[in-house]
Amino acid sequence: MIPTVARITGTGRGLPSRIFTNDDFASIGIETSDEWIMERTGIHERRIASDTETTCWMAATASRQAMARAGVTAGEIDAIILSTATPDRLLPATAVDLQAELGATRAAAFDISAACSGWLYGLTVAEGMIASGAIDTALVVGAEKMSAIIDWKDRSTCVLFGDGSGAVVLQRNKSGERAGILSTFMRSDGCLANLLYRPDGGAAHPMTAEILENRTHLVKMAGREVFKHAVREMSEAADRALDSAKLRAADIDLLIPHQANTRIIEATAKHANISMDKVYVNVDRFGNTSSASIPIALDEVIEKKIVGPGSTVMMVAFGAGFTWASAIVRL
Ligand code: ACO
Repeated sequence: MIPTVARITGTGRGLPSRIFTNDDFASIGIETSDEWIMERTGIHERRIASDTETTCWMAATASRQAMARAGVTAGEIDAIILSTATPDRLLPATAVDLQAELGATRAAAFDISAACSGWLYGLTVAEGMIASGAIDTALVVGAEKMSAIIDWKDRSTCVLFGDGSGAVVLQRNKSGERAGILSTFMRSDGCLANLLYRPDGGAAHPMTAEILENRTHLVKMAGREVFKHAVREMSEAADRALDSAKLRAADIDLLIPHQANTRIIEATAKHANISMDKVYVNVDRFGNTSSASIPIALDEVIEKKIVGPGSTVMMVAFGAGFTWASAIVRL
């Protein structure tokens, strides 16, 4: 039995305190209903961050919990990898703000931009850095303040997203056991970028009064097209993760899919031949928190003891880009 390179030794989550329910949209003039949103997405409520609950604040809250559970101090962290589509500032990376906030004085720190798949990308990069011998201990964080980039006047997107952060400590596996990351998989297709994107406000089209007026710096999405690809690509990611771990669906104790909506989750589980009682769903409480969704869910299932030492967990994500990714870990 070959031991794994790296294992997750602690998890945490950082969530804003304000709960915004489907019924609350009426108070901001959005014509929708709990019934419409629940039927199509399974989302009932999401967290919305205040001005002081920044991406870095949520990331630091999740990180401190993950470090405490791993028994790791800030000084022991070699690398901070922060996945976000909503950095607090455009320069420098939010990861360095997190590094400063935690006092992780020995750590390299950088952001990853791969939308909802970003945390799994980050986990894969961290495992590779451990395998190369460059580092021993990484903090891998997904942190998103989606409320800052969605168009609060577009009812077809603003009902879908929420804010939050999840983090894990990933460390070199010195146990000799086959516990930790069993397989990972990553893919992208930039030909489909314009199905889910922020058209303007970047370096190609820097911010102007016209952009602000037209709201083209905010998230635009072709919902039905995204839906179709999400199901197809998340299904592929599940197959590839199982193949490279040399496992079958029956070996998986729990599937944690990216929490975009319940219909995508159900279709992915069906394709992977995993029954819904082995699938974790919290999209009803948090909406789509992009790359924070999987680490938030992982932290919840460990805290609730739905899984524990020895459990095999498959995680699958899909996001803007498009990007898609998966990982199987034994806890
Ligand atoms: N409340 C009420 N009515 C609405 C709302 C709303 N919030 N939003 C749209 N509608 C209306 C539309 O105006 C439209 O009305 P019309 O027929 O009179 O024009 C009608 O509902 C149907 O609109 P569609 O967009 O066709 O609705 P659809 O059934 O496709 O559902 C949805 C939309 C939920 C967005 C669906 O396409 C979906 O789930 N797509 C995947 C989106 C997603 O999860 N993206 C993120 C995944 S990737 C990532 O996480 C980055």
